[in-house]
Amino acid sequence: MRLAVLASGTGSILEAIVDAGLPVHLVVTDRPCRAVDLAESLGIPVMVVERDSFGDDFNREAYTLGLVKVLTDAEIDLVAMAGFGTILAQPAYDRFAGRILNTHPALLPAFPGWHGVADAMAHGVKVTGCTVHIATLEVDSGPILAQEAVPVLPDDDEESLHERIKEVERRIYPETIRTVLESGKILIGESA
Ligand code: GAR
Repeated sequence: MRLAVLASGTGSILEAIVDAGLPVHLVVTDRPCRAVDLAESLGIPVMVVERDSFGDDFNREAYTLGLVKVLTDAEIDLVAMAGFGTILAQPAYDRFAGRILNTHPALLPAFPGWHGVADAMAHGVKVTGCTVHIATLEVDSGPILAQEAVPVLPDDDEESLHERIKEVERRIYPETIRTVLESGKILIGESA
């Protein structure tokens, strides 16, 4: 199975996937970001499928179709979102049904969305964590593959807590991706 990683940020999760020895055939970002420089420095093919808008006029369907074409042209079988900042539309889930994975910095189904760490802190939880799951059209709600708890410490701020969560993500996300790659299975839509 050929693996692509989608990122938008620092790329530290991408780096962990590569450091774990997983073969990343393509990195795609939706904006210029450190993940692009990282992929280039690692010699991994990288494409910036740049968003033309972050406003109400953003054409999510057209963007998704463009991204799906890039992934299809690169003969990608499995997609791992690693802090990717664009919600994908239906065509991605038609083309890669059950083959898009995501890592989220909270214990889903609690605190979905882009502010999972801040929302958990604002709620005053004493334990949060991270979740690796199969992505579906509904954000942060697909079948859960792995989870691990992370305690919230009394002097935590969002940054310190997120960093400790990411330490766990950098371990359990590559492990889960490896399991999926080794099983070679399409996770949804295939009878066991
Ligand atoms: C990770 O914590 C990931 O779970 C989160 O973005 C971070 C990316 O870290 N994704 C989401 O919040 C998606 N809802 P990185 O830029 O250091 O790789």
